[in-house]
Formats: sequence, structure tokens, C-alpha cells
Amino acid sequence: MNTSNELEKRIRASELGGGTDRIERQHAAGKKTARERIYQLLDPGSFLELDRFVTHRCNDFGLAEDKIPGDGVITGKGTINERAVFVFAQDFTVFGGSLSSAHAKKIVKIMDLALQNGCPVIGLNDSGGARIQEGVESLAGYADIFLKNVLLSGVIPQISLIMGPCAGGAVYSPAITDFVCMIDTQSHMFITGPEVIKTVTKEDVSKEDLGGGRAHNEISGVAHFLSENEDSCLQLCKTLLSYLPQNNLEQTPLVDTGDIAERSDTELEKLIPKEPHKPYDIRRLIYSIADAHTFFETQALFAQNIVTGFVRFEGRSVGVVANQPMQ
Ligand code: HXC
Repeated sequence: MNTSNELEKRIRASELGGGTDRIERQHAAGKKTARERIYQLLDPGSFLELDRFVTHRCNDFGLAEDKIPGDGVITGKGTINERAVFVFAQDFTVFGGSLSSAHAKKIVKIMDLALQNGCPVIGLNDSGGARIQEGVESLAGYADIFLKNVLLSGVIPQISLIMGPCAGGAVYSPAITDFVCMIDTQSHMFITGPEVIKTVTKEDVSKEDLGGGRAHNEISGVAHFLSENEDSCLQLCKTLLSYLPQNNLEQTPLVDTGDIAERSDTELEKLIPKEPHKPYDIRRLIYSIADAHTFFETQALFAQNIVTGFVRFEGRSVGVVANQPMQ
């Protein structure tokens, strides 16, 4: 056996994921592949992939002959604006991005490495949840991930980008991370999809009503951001990270916003109406006092009588929580 040929063959197979047909289907739906998303998110040339040849170990339901290197999730380390991050991206072209025991072990390893190195962990979720063919092995994989979600909480930032239809465990885990970003009409978060609902309960429900980006941004409050498309979702993640420390022991980055701390805004004297029943927009105040008048709002569509988000004062990130009299 020529080992270098064999290695190249395996690398190519891992890059093809579920195959050209499925990749074309992904593109035709206006979606990128998991690998393309990672390359767009990270600084060019910074991605170091781990475990790209891992395959599942299930021999039931014909899976013995259906092994794809990487097993539906791409994991590794890279940088965003020169700060280290650990990422995993689920590949919908491989068994619908569903989670096998091996797939779960790859994610858990990335979460452990992120914790050990004190760096954020970013999940790009595009997955039908527990891989049905693996049954309880797959469910146990989720138990390991949920435990890590809890242990990492408050220590390093955990960010979830929901890039496609996500079901079951592929929703329970992101839902307990710090920030959840969804894409309008493209990403969904539900216990199971409309087809399964129809079969089991006979109910007709659309993907959007069941768990679309608007449902989770406006009604449930599970999601923090709603992006128009993949590009703006990935860009939003980079902006969000610029406000966050790497871990619970580090300072947030100092950013030169070019603003002057001593500047004043006489318009603010007129902001609060003399009549106590007259509403005013609290955002006007936030934009005025923030460095460079920049406010990065979280959960803008949910519970709109409270405004939350991040600003900078003298270049340092500060969290904002403000009552909104307009609502
Ligand atoms: C194995 C799966 C899968 C899964 C999808 N696929 N979900 N394979 N396990 N969980 C496969 C499909 O068979 C199909 O394969 C391919 O992925 C694409 O799926 P489609 O259904 O064609 O895509 P789409 O119409 O976009 O619908 C996506 C979906 C739907 C909404 C995610 O597939 C769906 O509802 N899947 C089941 C969701 C579910 O019930 N998951 C289990 C959750 S239980 P082919 O070969 O045809 O292309 C769970 C419990 C966790 O996660 C609890 C932990 C303790």
C-alpha cells in the first residue's frame, strides 16, 4: 500500500463529507458546507483540524458499509481577530449532521481543550440530533456534551450558531450555551421536525412556527440574535467575541474607539420628558453615552420593555441592562 496515496485519499474523502450530490443540495438551498463556514469564520490560515479521520463504530442498520471520515463534524482550533477559539461545525451532508457516539466524543474533546486553554468554544450547529441508528449510544454522547456545557458555563464563553434545521439534542445543548444566533428562515430549533410531528400527533405545523428564528427570538427567548443570512451570522459572532473576555480570569480586550470620555451631549437634557407618563426611547441614552455611539444589542426582539447588550466605555466592554419606557 502506498501510504501517501492512502492518506491523500482519506483527506479527500473527509473533505467530501456526504458526497458531491449532498454538497450541491446544500449549496442549492443557499447554505454553505461545514468546512466553508469554518474557513469564513476563522482568520485565514489559522484553522488546525483535529480527528478528521474518526468514523462511527456502529454496524447496525447497514452502517458498517457507510463510514465517512470525520463522521459528520469538523472540529479544531483557530483564531478570530488573532484571539484563539475552539470550534466544531456539524456537517448536514453526513447523516443530516446527526450525532453518533464518535461524533459526540469529538465535540467533548474540543470543549475540554477550550476549557484547558481558557478560550471560547463556538458550535456551528446543523444537525438532526441523536443519530437514530445508534440509539442509546448516541443519547449517552449527548449526556457527555450537556455535562460539559454545565461545567464550562461561567468559565469560558460558549456560543452557538444555528445554521440549519436542528432537532433534539442538537437544540438542548445550544439552548444552554451563553449566546444563540439564528438565521431568518434558514435555521430552526425544535424537539423534532414537522414530519415526525405529523406522523405521531397528526398535527400540521410549519418549521417556522415550530422553531424558526422569529419564534425563538420573539416568543421563547431562547435565541439572542437573528441574522439575515449566513454571512451576517458569522460576522455577528466575530463582533460578539470582540466584547467578551477569553475566560473568567481575563479582562475584555481594550479597543481604541477614538472617542473622548469627557465629551458631553446637551441633547440628553431634553431626553426625559417633564410629564412622567410620556414615554422616551432609552436606546437614545445608551447610544449617546457609549464609545463611538455603538451599542451591540442582545435579544432585541424579546421582552422589549428591557434593553440589554454591550457598549464600550473608554475602550472596555460593559454590559447594559436598561428599562425601556417606550414599551
Ligand atoms: C439519522 C438523520 C437524522 C437523525 C436527519 N437524518 N436526522 N439520520 N439520525 N436524527 C438524515 C435523514 O434521514 C436524511 O438522510 C438526511 O439526514 C437529511 O434529512 P431530511 O429529513 O431529508 O432533511 P430536512 O427535510 O431538511 O429535515 C431535517 C430534520 C428532519 C428536520 C432535522 O430530518 C428530522 O426531523 N429529523 C429527525 C429529528 C429527530 O427526531 N431527531 C432525534 C432527536 S432525539 P438521507 O440519507 O435521506 O439524505 C435526540 C434526543 C437527545 O436528539 C436526548 C439526549 C439525552
